[in-house]
Amino acid sequence: MTVQSGRLVGRRIALGITGSIAAYKAVELLRLFQTEGADVRVLMTPSATAFIGPLTLETLSRHPVDVDVLALQADGRIGHISAANDVEAIVVAPATAHWLGSMAHGVAGDSITAACLATSVPVVVAPAMDGGMYAHPATQANVARLLEFGYRIVEPELGPLASGMVGRGRLAALPRIVDATVEALSGVAPAQAAAPALTSGPTRVDFAGRHVVVTAGGTIEPIDPVRFIGNRSTGKMGIAIAEEALDRGAAVTLILGNVNVDPPAGVHVARVETAAEMQAALRALTPPEGPAFDVLVMAAAVADFRPKAASDHKIGRGSGMKLELDATPDLLAEAVERVRAGIRASGAPRPILVGFAAETGSTDRAAEKLRAKGVDMLVANDVTEPGSGFGTDTNRVTIFYTDGAPEQLPMLSKREVAELLLDRILIRLDSRETDPGAAAEEAPTATTEATT
Ligand SMILES: Cc1cc2nc3c(=O)[nH]c(=O)nc-3n(C[C@H](O)[C@H](O)[C@H](O)COP(=O)(O)O)c2cc1C
Repeated sequence: MTVQSGRLVGRRIALGITGSIAAYKAVELLRLFQTEGADVRVLMTPSATAFIGPLTLETLSRHPVDVDVLALQADGRIGHISAANDVEAIVVAPATAHWLGSMAHGVAGDSITAACLATSVPVVVAPAMDGGMYAHPATQANVARLLEFGYRIVEPELGPLASGMVGRGRLAALPRIVDATVEALSGVAPAQAAAPALTSGPTRVDFAGRHVVVTAGGTIEPIDPVRFIGNRSTGKMGIAIAEEALDRGAAVTLILGNVNVDPPAGVHVARVETAAEMQAALRALTPPEGPAFDVLVMAAAVADFRPKAASDHKIGRGSGMKLELDATPDLLAEAVERVRAGIRASGAPRPILVGFAAETGSTDRAAEKLRAKGVDMLVANDVTEPGSGFGTDTNRVTIFYTDGAPEQLPMLSKREVAELLLDRILIRLDSRETDPGAAAEEAPTATTEATT
């Protein structure tokens, strides 16, 4: 595992972000806290989400983001109460005039105020607003009240503001906010290891701090407004993997096609219908500056063909229909290529890439697919075997590895397959981190052959 150094190693911090134009700076602040070794979870007011997307913060913090004060966590706990109990400091940056007013008067209408009311840990507040707003006696009275609570205020700075004017209201330089947090925690002993995990209360949290992306379900390709080409995938296998990763402490993003089962609460879900939409969702997670995840499991059944052109009106029965089909892009191959380009550009560690191959009759072609696709692991199953494949609760899979002999698992529940698969992924993630050579290594060249 990576050895961390910094002034906040092992510290658990909640970062509260409110609806200020300076909210974008919170991303950099989160990074600075992480560089100091802190484990950060994010709370946002609903207004803050107009300025910056929770997905960005969820991805970078590797924890679900708490936006809705009325929503429960995946484990049934109340988000703001678990934040209040689990963290060692709360940092509100940027803090709006509105939020200062709510906090000063104990009005718990958002997760950050509610967590601050429920906690006894140090609270650091960095206001940011227009100069006139900050100077107003109402705001000043609210700041004074927060000081009475024992909160540390990191005063805003004089400088150009979003309005184009110059005034005192600019969010403090980020290192000042980090320094204030370090100072606030300096007299406080680190909480005991027995404290509950930030995201939930699973018994095994070996994926804490990891971001796992899973594709699941089938894609559907429209013929006309009422008909489509689809496949028999129900999404059960991919969803079982997402559930298992979530229960083991990972931040999970599920790119979800056509499915028959509900995704687990607590997972970030990106709903898609077509192969093109799934491609767009994957592209968003594999930007040129490097992939935004540690593990990618492509368990979705992506259509191999789509109608050349979908009709915008219902096609009548008439004298029959001739469908002309185009091949869809190979999403796995493209994702692997984009990951390779991203890690070349950023030098970031290479994520573990896992493909699925639904075969009929035998899984003999899977070893060749593993090489062709450039993935680390390929999970193959014979979908014609009873109890294995689409719609069933069980699966018999063979896992092919680039670094070892294939492993044939017995018939298991899909959740058990997910558990064993994540065990094997974890071994490779850990060795990637202890062996810097492996981290820099590139995936073999991928071809454009379709997997599923
Ligand atoms: C573009 C824009 C920028 C804003 N920036 C700030 C700001 O920097 N500080 C502030 O106090 N309010 C700012 N506001 C107003 C807040 O968004 C508004 O008061 C909101 O209700 C705050 O909600 P919250 O405190 O629950 O996050 C801004 C509004 C807009 C439209």
